[in-house]
Amino acid sequence: MEGFMVALLIWTLISPTSSSNSKAWPTHTVCREGNLEVFYQSCDPLQDFGFSADQCSKHLKPKLNIRFGMILREDIKELFLDIALFTKGSSILNFSYPICEEDLPKFSFCGRRKGEQIYYAGPINNPGFEIFEGEYQVLLELYNENRSTVACANATIICS
Ligand SMILES: *[C@@H]1O[C@H](CO)[C@@H](O)[C@H](O)[C@H]1NC(C)=O
Ligand SMILES: *[C@@H]1O[C@H](CO)[C@@H](O)[C@H](O)[C@H]1NC(C)=O
Ligand SMILES: *[C@@H]1O[C@H](CO)[C@@H](O)[C@H](O)[C@H]1NC(C)=O
Repeated sequence: MEGFMVALLIWTLISPTSSSNSKAWPTHTVCREGNLEVFYQSCDPLQDFGFSADQCSKHLKPKLNIRFGMILREDIKELFLDIALFTKGSSILNFSYPICEEDLPKFSFCGRRKGEQIYYAGPINNPGFEIFEGEYQVLLELYNENRSTVACANATIICS
């Protein structure tokens, strides 16, 4: 997985930034294990990014190890994540989560500048919960204090 991330970063670096072509980014797998499959596509027209989780379970543990790599298109003194969850086209949950706040930088990459490459492998805390059977669509957006998009993804979760 580490190799994949490095390859993806290099590829992101060298891929042309001409945004005139409306090609879709490839679909990446976050995890696929037992009854759960999670995959995503970048919905940022300018870049793709790498993300994976070490374990994949219907019973989401409060501490989850993830890997995340991308090139910053904006400064991230502050960074927020918005998540919108849908099933069969209807909205079931929205939430917003602060990742980097000026007086509470939770991660080592908080405060990095535009153009820098960030790579994070480690735990994240999340509310432990159980994913119910079904297929879900998730929209995720990372943005900074100026509401500029840092990354965007749409994901599908299939739990059987
Ligand atoms: C992302 O959205 C596009 C367009 O709605 C859709 O075709 C694609 O299947 C979605 N990808 C994932 C991984 O959910
Ligand atoms: C947000 O906008 C202000 C005013 O334009 C600017 O000084 C600041 O650097 C911006 N912050 C980021 C993280 O881009
Ligand atoms: C989530 O946000 C969208 C857009 O703001 C809104 O249309 C939708 O009703 C919200 N869903 C829930 C469950 O609050």
